[in-house]
Amino acid sequence: MTDLTERARNILRQNDKGGYTLPTHGLYPYQWNWDSAFAAWGFSTFDPARGWQELETLVAGQWEDGMIPHILFHRPDPGYYPGPDVWKGRGPIPSSGISQPPVAASFMAKMLAADPTGEARARAIWPKLKEWHRWFMTWRLDQGAVCVTHPWEAGRDNAPDWDNAMRAIDPSDVGTYTRRDTSHVDPAMRPTKYDYDRYIKLVQIGVSVNWDQARLLELNPFRVADPTMTFTLLRAQRDLETMGRRFGQDVSEVEEWIRTLEEGAQSLWNDETGSYDSRDVHTGLFNGVLSNASSLCWYAGIDDDRARPALERMLGAAEYGLASFDPKAEGFEPLRYWRGPTWPIMNYLVGSGLEEQGHHDLAHRIRQDTARLMEQHGFAEYYDPLTGAPAGGGSFTWTAAVWLGWAGQSPETCQGAA
Ligand code: SER
Repeated sequence: MTDLTERARNILRQNDKGGYTLPTHGLYPYQWNWDSAFAAWGFSTFDPARGWQELETLVAGQWEDGMIPHILFHRPDPGYYPGPDVWKGRGPIPSSGISQPPVAASFMAKMLAADPTGEARARAIWPKLKEWHRWFMTWRLDQGAVCVTHPWEAGRDNAPDWDNAMRAIDPSDVGTYTRRDTSHVDPAMRPTKYDYDRYIKLVQIGVSVNWDQARLLELNPFRVADPTMTFTLLRAQRDLETMGRRFGQDVSEVEEWIRTLEEGAQSLWNDETGSYDSRDVHTGLFNGVLSNASSLCWYAGIDDDRARPALERMLGAAEYGLASFDPKAEGFEPLRYWRGPTWPIMNYLVGSGLEEQGHHDLAHRIRQDTARLMEQHGFAEYYDPLTGAPAGGGSFTWTAAVWLGWAGQSPETCQGAA
């Protein structure tokens, strides 16, 4: 075992709170939804039982309407804002009121392939994931593409994709609040106050209707159809279907969902930018943003040659691919969260999708760059794509998981490789 593999395992162990894993101490002191799915996969490479437990803890937070929240506040922690008293979630565990990219089913499929002894546990989780997927299909579709109702729902908090929709939000009565994130991390690497005021305003609007999705749809303060959600859900539905067949479940509804999303994904294709793009549902206009999410089509099983040139341009413009925002675009900021930095988790989703679809040249570049970042700078939250400098939080769970499951492995030995 390499030294880096041992270090990655230790990060997971150190961030383990007993059944769930923190993304990192300090900055994110709770269980985050897609971070947790990555953590489960990371654990599964050396402690499969602990991997299954992580998914079980995550689905335990499911709301009656099927939603699995983006944060589960298991134990109070004053180091984070906005906490459970602000969100006022209404699930079995104190939580936020929005969801996050649904990657859990896809990691569960990988874990099951690598550890068939976990089948009973996977069978118990499967129906809960199906209900969660149904929640997206019921409440979040526009022209068959999946929308976010808060920038945090896409996980790409301050991506330029939301700028147009955010401009339409008036946060003048948001009140006073104290951010905690900027006491853990350099403010230059975090979203601005302009963005934060609107994030909190959107939370307040959700609380005002008790997170009732029908009411939220009437108010509809923010709705952007997004490649992150659309492609991760499409992939997750495919994995749910495959596992469902194995478990002897009726998967006809899931098949229908797959068809809807396959068609819906095409409504995100922007001819002008030559890429998959986000679309503001209020105006019907594309945002014209080339991001790392634009290249998630392969991960979703859509082998689209039209998307290759834009990805090649993105990779050509960065020393360490894949940047979260086109380095040649106006407003590119190499250190500010989702407005430029490269993120190992997205590199994995894009890179593994390319591998599966046989685009080994591009996949190799992304995997090598991701491994180099970790070898040179350890397991940061994200990195400057021009210099490789580590940024955001340190000792990061999902970055360590990406090393364990992918970047530190050869393509043939990746955890769960079919
Ligand atoms: N990423 C958000 C934060 O920074 C919440 O999901 O707090």
